[in-house]
Amino acid sequence: QNARIKIDLDRTIGEVDPHIYGNFVEHLGRCVYGGIYDPDNKLSDKNGFRKDVMTAVQNLHPTIIRYPGGNFVSNYNWLDGVGPKSERVPRLELAWYTLEPNLFGTNEFMQYVRSVNAEPYFTVNMGTGTIEEARRWVEYCNVKDGPYYAELRKKHGFPEPWNITYWSLGNEMDGPWQMGHLSAEDYVKKAREAAKLMVRTSPGIKLVAAGSSNYRAGADPDHWNQTVLTELKDVIDYIAIHMYVGNPDSNYYNFIATPLVLEQRTKIIKGMIAQAMQTASRGDRDPIYIAWDEYNVWYRARRGASATGRNALEEKYNLEDALVIAEFLNAFIRNADVVKMANLAQLVNVIAPIFTNENGMFKQTIYYPLQLFANHVSGTSLDVFVDCKNYSTERFNLGLGETTAQLSKVPYLDVSATYKAGEVTLCVVNRNKEEAITTDILSQNGAFSGTFEVFEVNGPDIKSGNDFNKEVVKTVEKPAINASGNKIMYSFPPHSFTMLKGK
Ligand code: AHR
Repeated sequence: QNARIKIDLDRTIGEVDPHIYGNFVEHLGRCVYGGIYDPDNKLSDKNGFRKDVMTAVQNLHPTIIRYPGGNFVSNYNWLDGVGPKSERVPRLELAWYTLEPNLFGTNEFMQYVRSVNAEPYFTVNMGTGTIEEARRWVEYCNVKDGPYYAELRKKHGFPEPWNITYWSLGNEMDGPWQMGHLSAEDYVKKAREAAKLMVRTSPGIKLVAAGSSNYRAGADPDHWNQTVLTELKDVIDYIAIHMYVGNPDSNYYNFIATPLVLEQRTKIIKGMIAQAMQTASRGDRDPIYIAWDEYNVWYRARRGASATGRNALEEKYNLEDALVIAEFLNAFIRNADVVKMANLAQLVNVIAPIFTNENGMFKQTIYYPLQLFANHVSGTSLDVFVDCKNYSTERFNLGLGETTAQLSKVPYLDVSATYKAGEVTLCVVNRNKEEAITTDILSQNGAFSGTFEVFEVNGPDIKSGNDFNKEVVKTVEKPAINASGNKIMYSFPPHSFTMLKGK
């Protein structure tokens, strides 16, 4: 197979926001307890943080970490998780059916997030919580001194405010599974009033509204998003959208096309934002952006015992999953003008790139594409021309029985390109399972000069995965390319993700 990719530095899409390399820590399964926090383990530091996990997190370079949920937050009282640990009480946790010991809370998370050099992003409880509880949490975190909750934080040993900028107004409030689930109309009323109190308490915070997560039969995600954007257009900075995909029918070509559904949804919501912005009064604030603040592959540990309790959502990933993650990231880059935040759900053990047991950890396949992007892809996103063969999918299940889709013209190559400081970074997934695709990469702005580094994520088989002491799918640095003239020829191997970086 042959293909062409044309890179034109004049055809720009937008600036890549570093916050698209975010993650998510929820009180769910072993994400917190036994994941990032394991005080009785010899592998942990004096704060109880697992050192091996922290190093892997630091090397992933997450820019922003969402906390504490997820479904968990809709029945969470943040006050249960602050103050002397000896006085904290366990609570029944109703999202994932566990006893929440509350030994890790706001201040422990903030210490963690600072240690890994990421931005915190909190979600308030818009389910069973009140707007006043949300306001008090903002005061506890962001007000230096004076009022009761600011003083309470100081009493708890944290004299300085944490100054948390990003706050989400609830989680998946459109889902009937959500505790305190609301109609679109009821949600926007509650979110608007919560926003008012939160902003008055801490002016300058950025607010994220809960957009659609429910694309199941009978749901109306467009009505939800439209209502949120119309009613909250003067108030919010982002609309949050969630998407999980899977391969329950073991149909590789359907599955590997699923990130294009995310891209379709992005474009639909972008249009809704443009419409809402026509009548918004936002002063000099930016328009509303999209935050894909939960995305991942999730379909194996989805039901029954694998979906609840201490070992919930322990999905083991393979190569095809890693390729899907690379494509999600490509889709964010291709929509860099409007997608300004994204959070891979989640960080450790729970549908996660890092997996632990009491003796150690390993990096799942999906760790590697995210790490490559977070470390190398920034600057201006380019609108690349791609000419390659296509295929069509059947109608298919996204993995959750939620929706079916049919995609025509799925290109075998999934491509994004960025430009920064004279360097181009090209990210290419070859979806073809059997064949390499020999590609002419053409510069439209004169000659390439110098060396292109080449990184590849691949493995013996699309079902290959990693485990403790077994790393089959990972990043491999390939021989560099010496580029001259306006053409590079490269053969993208079957079922691979390749990053080319040079001048
Ligand atoms: O990430 C797992 C769960 O998926 C989150 O708690 C929820 O928001 C979503 O349904």
